[in-house]
Amino acid sequence: MNNFMIRDENALYFEVGYSCDNALFIAFGDNGYFLTDGRYETEAKENLKHDKYVISLIVSRDLIRSARAILKKHEKSTLIYNPQEFSVFFFERLKNNIKINFIPKPNFHQEKRMVKTADEIALLEHSQRLNFKAFMQFAKFLNKKGKDSTESFLHYKAQGFLSKKGVYDLSFNPIVGINGNAAKPHALPSNDKLHKGDLLLFDAGLKYKRYCSDMTRTGFLGKNGISFCKEQRFLDSTLQKIYDVVLKAQEVAIKGAKPGMLASEVDTSARNVIEKAGFGKYFVHSTGHGIGLDIHELPNISPRSKIILQEGMVFSIEPGIYIPNYYGVRIEDLVVLESKGARIIGETS
Ligand code: GLY
Ligand code: MN
Repeated sequence: MNNFMIRDENALYFEVGYSCDNALFIAFGDNGYFLTDGRYETEAKENLKHDKYVISLIVSRDLIRSARAILKKHEKSTLIYNPQEFSVFFFERLKNNIKINFIPKPNFHQEKRMVKTADEIALLEHSQRLNFKAFMQFAKFLNKKGKDSTESFLHYKAQGFLSKKGVYDLSFNPIVGINGNAAKPHALPSNDKLHKGDLLLFDAGLKYKRYCSDMTRTGFLGKNGISFCKEQRFLDSTLQKIYDVVLKAQEVAIKGAKPGMLASEVDTSARNVIEKAGFGKYFVHSTGHGIGLDIHELPNISPRSKIILQEGMVFSIEPGIYIPNYYGVRIEDLVVLESKGARIIGETS
């Protein structure tokens, strides 16, 4: 059955090649209805792709009223929707007195996008390569002018490298955390300054043709400067131990990931390494997440995930250990699952 309605911009883009912030797409089999308002009419006409659906473009000041007219024509049909995409106000008004069998299915569209095509993998790989270049440029900047800069300033500079001065959108607000701030997995930039002997966690990504990248490195500003290589040498021996445990957890999870496994088993493989080293309670998030048009997609690589891994899935492996007010370490790469196992995409060091 291919009857569904969507409002999410990435879902819209995936289905019809165009999205805007006020649109609704309804599909009844091969018939598609793209509803938007006059502000987007010309762009919609220019960009809508008709390869998957015969699309009628409906320009309306009242999307709900126009959608109701379409639904009335298809009464007695079944229609899937993701309740997370619709406000109560929108949905209540839409369905009132309409004889459609609405089926709420959270994340149904992310499920549809979970296995990537070869073209999508190529876009994700290119996105991650660009991201890695930005990491290298940022490291170069840190080595020239980073010392004594605040996290906020470094955060600002990092955005310039990631977006290539505005060419690319970012996948998310980058995370730049020094020492104790790195122990907040999604730290906001503060006015703490970067000094010699500090740890710096950098987590960032950009979008290439709307496809997201995502990478985290934890580096040490030593006497030879900082690098975002995976090999790191810290002066503090406990910190070095933590770093090595996180790196091992990442390597074990990447090496062990195979099609046919449960995503939760990949999480377990990383978590076991960290738990055995005695840091289990400091690994406070999932091991990874799918990525594509959204920064966080399926499969979630978490203890609760029931998803069976398949070839063509692309996801992050990003274990971390966060000790409040001390240090945080996270190491993140993206992998694509191939027949023999997981392959890291983009460059790594
Ligand atoms: N790299 C940020 C996140 O995955 O949440
Ligand atoms: Mn991530």
